[in-house]
Amino acid sequence: MKIAIIGSGYVGLVAAGCFAELEHEVVCVDRDEAKLARLSRGECPIHEEFLPELLKDYVGNRLRFTADLPAAVAASEVVFIAVGTPGSDSGEADLTSVESVAREVARGINDYKVIVEKSTVPVCTAQRLATILEQGGAPRGRFDVVSNPEFLREGSAVCDFLFPDRIVIGSSSARASDKLRAVYAPLTSGAYSMRADAIPAPDGAPLPPPLIQTSTRSAELLKHAANAYLAMRVSFINAVANLCESVGASVEEVCAGLGADSRIGPEFLQPGIGYGGACFPKDLAAFHAVARECGYDFALLDEVKRINEMQRERFLGKVREALWTIKGKRLAVLGLAFKGGTDDIRESPAIFVVEQLLAEGATVVAYDPAAMPRAREVFTELEYAEDAYEAADGADGLLILTDWEEFAALELARLRRALRYPIVVDGRNLFSPERMAEEGFFYHSIGRPQPRAQRALKLRKAS
Ligand code: UGA
Repeated sequence: MKIAIIGSGYVGLVAAGCFAELEHEVVCVDRDEAKLARLSRGECPIHEEFLPELLKDYVGNRLRFTADLPAAVAASEVVFIAVGTPGSDSGEADLTSVESVAREVARGINDYKVIVEKSTVPVCTAQRLATILEQGGAPRGRFDVVSNPEFLREGSAVCDFLFPDRIVIGSSSARASDKLRAVYAPLTSGAYSMRADAIPAPDGAPLPPPLIQTSTRSAELLKHAANAYLAMRVSFINAVANLCESVGASVEEVCAGLGADSRIGPEFLQPGIGYGGACFPKDLAAFHAVARECGYDFALLDEVKRINEMQRERFLGKVREALWTIKGKRLAVLGLAFKGGTDDIRESPAIFVVEQLLAEGATVVAYDPAAMPRAREVFTELEYAEDAYEAADGADGLLILTDWEEFAALELARLRRALRYPIVVDGRNLFSPERMAEEGFFYHSIGRPQPRAQRALKLRKAS
């Protein structure tokens, strides 16, 4: 099928690459000429597994980039709107880009088109979009607006897109639903996963994925509800972790028992320094604003946010507890991205922690496998290291702020030798407290009892 994607951010670009992988003809639109030039050369602007390969394979044949939005729409049967919907001061989603894009889309409607909301938008946006398209001169019978929310996560976006838990189509038009079903047919028929050259399916992915058909409003609402629910789980487990700390219980053991309940499940129960990123904080606020507009006070969402913000402060408290004074200390920081697998630092709790430590007079030397180029653009007062050991070299303590897999695989003896003092404050529970104690670290983590550093104690006893 001929598909236009408006917006080449995380969602738009991943969708563009993946639709090309599913053998559709894709044109991706952006107004940033410099970005378009890079994309047209096949360069990948974000750190996302498998995306560079998709761009390399398809740019110039099934996938092209342009700034000419109306022409892209005119040449396509299905148009996905995947532009940003940032948060405003009042929490509401700022739909300025969606509206201006819709006005341009109207100019390209020369034949029947399915206009798809891919961006996360408040409920009832489809209705607004239809009005804008009509005002722009597109006759009512020439288009349908449908909602097709995206559930991909940064860091595993390509796999999430190609092997989703479900595909949701929110539409009141059978004609539009049929078109969208055809777009996803390679996934829902199982044909893609059986291709010899397919990207391998992650463990546990439902094959083929179920397709859930809903009303347009239900689809819009369920996307907000999904992110709010997931954020709530993170805050819930962080609150439980805090309780565990008070009584000497282990949040890991609690999670093992909790997650074994099939009604609860084990996913998304990892305590840490709180959620961040471009989605949860913004979508939680937008969902709250939607509820407010509907006359419902969704106070639960306030509490989710409050716990999340408190979690970062608690972590800073642990750092102060472990290091006693902060001013003048040299601190190694592992991780700046809001989670592992991405170079995205938007709303990253790691960045919040680093900013606080700098404000308190610490020197911070940071290492992140992917996010340093982005961090460098906004953070000049940081020192950056080539790897974790260099960051640790001579530092008074080491903080783990992002759950990168490579951090969990670090050589602990080497790390300890590099550090001036063997203090590790782990905001992501990447190591077992027992092992860290055996390796001689003074190790602090989230929601777990803290054994004393054995080697350090032994050495002290021996002397
Ligand atoms: C999230 C959703 O998971 C996606 O389904 C959704 O499509 C996306 O938002 C979006 O709306 O675009 P993402 O923000 O990429 O995806 O990242 P997540 O993996 O959900 O993590 C969000 C935050 O929660 C991260 O800071 C992560 O470290 C934290 N988290 C997650 C935890 O602290 N504990 C967990 O158990 C899980």
